[in-house]
Amino acid sequence: MLVELLYCSVSVAPQITDADLEHILACARRRNLEAGITGMLLYYRGEFVQILEGRKKSVENVYEKFIGPDLKHTALNKVHQNTISHRSFSEWSMGFIGEPEVESRMPLSVIGILMNLLTDEAKTKPLSMGLNAFVSIYNQLRKSPYR
Ligand SMILES: Cc1cc2nc3c(=O)[nH]c(=O)nc-3n(C[C@H](O)[C@H](O)[C@H](O)COP(=O)(O)O)c2cc1C
Repeated sequence: MLVELLYCSVSVAPQITDADLEHILACARRRNLEAGITGMLLYYRGEFVQILEGRKKSVENVYEKFIGPDLKHTALNKVHQNTISHRSFSEWSMGFIGEPEVESRMPLSVIGILMNLLTDEAKTKPLSMGLNAFVSIYNQLRKSPYR
């Protein structure tokens, strides 16, 4: 059974560095590839939003054993977990949207960024509940005053 899991968290370091992000992503991608997990991580102004997709057991295992206990972030809030019929990010062991992409004026919204990253199958379908939530959290982050 395929599921998508969406959560938000807050980075512990006041200024997370590019090296920190690269470390998180390198570890995450290696493990996700082994576990058949795909998804997208967004980092903006000290907050993370991540969507994971894969087999229920694998997603829950990675979330509970590796993501939850990671001391680089805190205040994890599982926003949503839902069964899905297909993956939206099947080519991404963990895609990443960082501050430059969020601030960029070129793709006018995160939908623009996301649409470039979604698989062709996902592009032809309405956004899943998880993706919809991802977009609405992103919109809230963007509107909130700079911390
Ligand atoms: C925001 C965030 C997202 C993460 N996403 C994943 C993930 O998708 N898959 C995974 O296996 N681990 C994930 N992790 C855990 C890290 O990949 C990895 O376990 C950690 O960076 C190793 O930390 P250490 O060097 O402090 O032991 C995530 C951690 C954080 C903080």
